[in-house]
Amino acid sequence: MSIQENLLFTPSLISPEVQAALPKGYTIRPLASDDYERGFLDVLSVLTVIGNISKAQFLVLIKLFFFTLERFFYLKAHNHEYFTLVIVSSEDRIVGAGTIFIERKFIRNTGLVGHIEDIAVDKNQQGKKLGLRIIQALKYVGAKTGCYKVILDCSEKNVPFYEKCGFQRKEVEMAWYCSENSTKAKL
Ligand SMILES: CC(C)(COP(=O)(O)OP(=O)(O)OC[C@H]1O[C@@H](n2cnc3c(N)ncnc32)[C@H](O)[C@@H]1OP(=O)(O)O)[C@@H](O)C(=O)NCCC(=O)NCCS
Repeated sequence: MSIQENLLFTPSLISPEVQAALPKGYTIRPLASDDYERGFLDVLSVLTVIGNISKAQFLVLIKLFFFTLERFFYLKAHNHEYFTLVIVSSEDRIVGAGTIFIERKFIRNTGLVGHIEDIAVDKNQQGKKLGLRIIQALKYVGAKTGCYKVILDCSEKNVPFYEKCGFQRKEVEMAWYCSENSTKAKL
């Protein structure tokens, strides 16, 4: 499989300005199908607690591997809507990741809205402007695909970070969590 086939979406949607602004040796590119080997899931773990992993849990993690692959190819089949990009270090490890998915509206003349999700930078790599570069790259995808706005939800403590990325506080996030019995994905 060539690197191009391996990628989630076309690299032409990766901002050249963002690539040029990265620290030396770092690359920004679409997610690749073998990125779990480069620590993609480890990077995402900054978003949620994993805790001590037993062998049984580790096997579940292996299963999660295949889930990730399955998810990757689903996303690739929908790569006009899902754009997950990663920053790779000179050691060929994933050090940052983020996603924008594009929603098709009826309103605003059948307009498009970009939703930014799952922004994560490896703990040891935070503070190097990698988070800022990921957001700039996702905004570029939003602008290139013709979104009229790009929005996201975040915790109060991350508001200053997103303000530095050019976002402004707007309205309120509301959430409803389904009961535990109904959390198994059925799609
Ligand atoms: C939030 C996160 C993505 C920021 O990434 P990062 O690479 O560490 O941040 P950057 O170096 O790009 O920061 C860019 C600017 O925002 C500032 N900033 C970053 N996080 C901040 C915070 N929590 N509060 C205030 N300012 C912050 C930086 O100081 C920097 O400011 P400067 O340009 O004046 O120097 C990263 O810390 C992370 O992955 N956190 C854990 C997961 C998470 O919370 N994800 C967001 C889910 S909504």
